[in-house]
Amino acid sequence: MRVITNEIDLKPFRGCAFVPTMGALHAGHLSLIREAKSTGKPVVVSIFVNPEQFSPDEDLDQYPRNLEQDVVFAESVGADVVFAPSVETVYPDTPENIALPKAATRPQLEDAHRPTHFRGVCVAVARLFDLVQPTYTVFGLKDYQQYLIIKQLIEQEDGRWGDLHIIGADIIRGDDGLAMSSRNVYLSTDQRQQALGIHEAIQCTTEDDMCCTLENHGLEIEYAVIRDEQTLLEPCNEYPTRALVAAKVGRTRLIDNALVNIQ
Ligand code: PAF
Repeated sequence: MRVITNEIDLKPFRGCAFVPTMGALHAGHLSLIREAKSTGKPVVVSIFVNPEQFSPDEDLDQYPRNLEQDVVFAESVGADVVFAPSVETVYPDTPENIALPKAATRPQLEDAHRPTHFRGVCVAVARLFDLVQPTYTVFGLKDYQQYLIIKQLIEQEDGRWGDLHIIGADIIRGDDGLAMSSRNVYLSTDQRQQALGIHEAIQCTTEDDMCCTLENHGLEIEYAVIRDEQTLLEPCNEYPTRALVAAKVGRTRLIDNALVNIQ
């Protein structure tokens, strides 16, 4: 298992299965690495806390960082390389002015609350793809909108990364149902109990019920919607529908989603 920080040492791993992360690895990330492993390709995991995707009022400085522990975790599930670049390696120049895929600007979803977030994600992921040059990349479905955006980004950039395939990996939950997230470490025991309202809400079949459930748990709702899972627009009976939630427990912002049957 190697830890690499520059582009040149990555060359032998071109064509790998790539798992981009911001570190603070947990069971959810380990499942992404296992999924990458199942492709049979060498597995590269990047650990890069991307400043471009945090707004000035977000938790960039407090974001949990522990490279040593992340390396041990990544190795335990068979990663071949941890790529831990500096900000200068990822952004030697002004970040690219990349065109945002359609799924990035959908009413009421992430964009309404974090207007610069997905631009920052796309810029970082595009650069990481340039540096790593993978054949497969694995994204968790917990960040469902992000997964869809990166899928569209790969299509939109039309061969920039060769024949790159994206794999969407299932959401991993704790025994209590809470989706694994690096931000769960911020939660007290009581707040974790409160946060379970999010898991309950994404099993509702109407937006009103979702909101009531979140309110009953004392959660601050950013959005609680049911959308067509292909377009993230209002359901149109053609594709499956997904319930998506972003809510705050104290100062901690959590997101989650699930397929729901609204027929
Ligand atoms: O999901 C994440 O951890 C980040 O948004 C990603 C994809 C690593 C880009 O910085």
